Amino acid sequence: MNGLSNKILYGGDYNPEQWPRDVWKEDMRLFNLAGIDIATVNVFSWARNQPDEKTYRFEWLDDVMDMLHTNGVRACLGTGTAAHPAWMAHTFPDMLTVDSQGRKKKYGRRHNSCPNSPTFRLYSERLAKKLAERYKDHPALLLWHVNNEMGWRCYCENCERAFRVWLKERYGTLVVLNAAWYTSFWGHTFYDWEEIVLPSQQSEHFNVSGHESTAFPAMSIDYDRFNSDSFLACYKLERDAIKSVIPEALVTTNFQSNGTYKPLDYFKWAKELDIVALDSYPANDTPMSQIAMRHDLMRGLKNGEPFLLMEQSPSQLNWKDVNPLKRPGVMRLWSYQAVARGAEAVMFFQLRRSAGAFEKFHGAVIDHVGHENTRVFSECAELGRELQQLGDTLLGATTKSRVAIVFDWDNWWAIEHSSGPTKQLKYLQQIQRYYDAFYNRSVQVDMIGLETELSGYDLVIAPVLYMVKPGYAAKLEAYTSGGGTFVTTFFSGIVNEIDLVTLGGYPGELRKLLGIWVEETDALFPGQPNSMVMKGNLDGLERSYSCGTLCDLLHTEGAETEAVYGGCFYAGMPAVTRNRFGKGEAWYLASDPEAAFLEAFFKHLTDKLNIVPVAKTPPGVEASVREKDGRQFTFLLNHNDRPATVQIGEEPSMELLSGMRLSGESELPPYGVFILEGPSKGAGP
Ligand code: GLA
Ligand code: ZN
Repeated sequence: MNGLSNKILYGGDYNPEQWPRDVWKEDMRLFNLAGIDIATVNVFSWARNQPDEKTYRFEWLDDVMDMLHTNGVRACLGTGTAAHPAWMAHTFPDMLTVDSQGRKKKYGRRHNSCPNSPTFRLYSERLAKKLAERYKDHPALLLWHVNNEMGWRCYCENCERAFRVWLKERYGTLVVLNAAWYTSFWGHTFYDWEEIVLPSQQSEHFNVSGHESTAFPAMSIDYDRFNSDSFLACYKLERDAIKSVIPEALVTTNFQSNGTYKPLDYFKWAKELDIVALDSYPANDTPMSQIAMRHDLMRGLKNGEPFLLMEQSPSQLNWKDVNPLKRPGVMRLWSYQAVARGAEAVMFFQLRRSAGAFEKFHGAVIDHVGHENTRVFSECAELGRELQQLGDTLLGATTKSRVAIVFDWDNWWAIEHSSGPTKQLKYLQQIQRYYDAFYNRSVQVDMIGLETELSGYDLVIAPVLYMVKPGYAAKLEAYTSGGGTFVTTFFSGIVNEIDLVTLGGYPGELRKLLGIWVEETDALFPGQPNSMVMKGNLDGLERSYSCGTLCDLLHTEGAETEAVYGGCFYAGMPAVTRNRFGKGEAWYLASDPEAAFLEAFFKHLTDKLNIVPVAKTPPGVEASVREKDGRQFTFLLNHNDRPATVQIGEEPSMELLSGMRLSGESELPPYGVFILEGPSKGAGP
């Protein structure tokens, strides 16, 4: 049980304010038909709820809440602060944002309030409190949904002033700040806090060959931190307003960009949420491992706790250039993919397709035709039935992984603010490459933050750990010397938390652990690879693999060399090293290798550590496991548009969705899903 319900919640965003009341009645009939038991309401109703400074009108929302309750639907109640009323922007223009080029925005769209505007903070907090007071005892109320997909960037004067306050708190004095930002460069010494302006296209930022660059990465990273904190402060204001009235309220907000939204540090945010909630909008051609990685990241944000799939489209999107339909079965498949990795709600945007404005062609459970006789509705209703049948079987199930990949937002910001050695290095892409090496073999991985305890893992990978925060090198040393296997890569251990280079030789604080000294780093043009030539000591690896992006020129200081470069003037220098450290070992991949290397390399390590795949699956079939009360649920997800043959094993397993007992070889239909109860058969190294 997740404390929310006795089954996986099923529903989504519902906008009755766009419809006359006779439609509401029909909605209730259709929700019931589709097995919908949760509706997110009031997300964009600020203007309706508050027509002027003093007046609040919630009568319509009372009716919606009552109607939901009468019909057995729980409410995920939006605070409605993601789009401010036009009158408010007109009266208090300080709410409007300013873009990076200094252009003050006019009233329009949504996600349009400056997070440091006193007016926005005052009225959003007040609205949240009024809603809490009004609905605190309402039987439909289940969950609170603050704002919506929070996070954009603002460069207005409110933000500039707030930035100075944030900096004063962080650095205390200008002497410390000047040192941290290395302002002796280009004569930037600040003598008064008022001299500090936001790093933007008007100040420190400029474009070079299509990439945004900054003259002062440390300043820009601080702006990223500050901006994430500014929105978090807005979230907390609303949350605290709600909790001041309802201390036991469950409060969340929906994370965007499938969970990897660059402007917000979701590890920091997750601490303030009662449960993590995610919006997931893959396109038909999005590689499924990308979505799997993001779901694992959502589970990792709160150290393995379940999350809510707060939004996905029942069918097509509307905001891309071309928005194909989701193929029959795909919505169900992707729903179970989220459940397989820890989701305990499956929710849509939107329940009824709007008749006008921007999202009228966005997929919905109820289409413009208005009745239930559509393909999409039938698929939604079928999934609704299945989730009812599953009941609480999967609630509270956990995922056990022996492999962890480290993810850190500060590191992401820092790497991509760096000028040199290459702009080709993209953090998410790198993380994904390492993740894929496990995903493709169905080896389960946890995505972890810097605060996560490492001792439970046999293998920890920190791709491009460019920024090493205080204490982290010691944590990695303790983990490795205790018997762990640690892997990191090129462009790691370069800077500290304020983006100042750790002097005395790369990889700085990781040098001892890795037993190497990196003297230089070569940057390679795309399409001009070097190669890694294996020494032949590692089982399962071929003789040579191509590599690129960056090549470190390193000297071993105790580490053994397992591969050397095949080309360029540094041919013969180490490209892969292993350092025995206490009871464990620390590996260094000095360049960005092709996928085949990563797969073979990690197969070698996992074999050695006896870490086995959760199932043996053909290409395009994803496998993962959740466990509960000594039972194991193996999810097999066929992402192919054709059937796939899977091995269930000799012992029969119960397939939860069909209720059939399966054994031996079984055919998984195109986009089909099996949830097998019991130990996964056919698993093996
Ligand atoms: C986001 C928003 C929703 C809606 C969907 C459409 O996730 O939160 O309000 O606009 O996108 O895909
Ligand atoms: Zn602002």
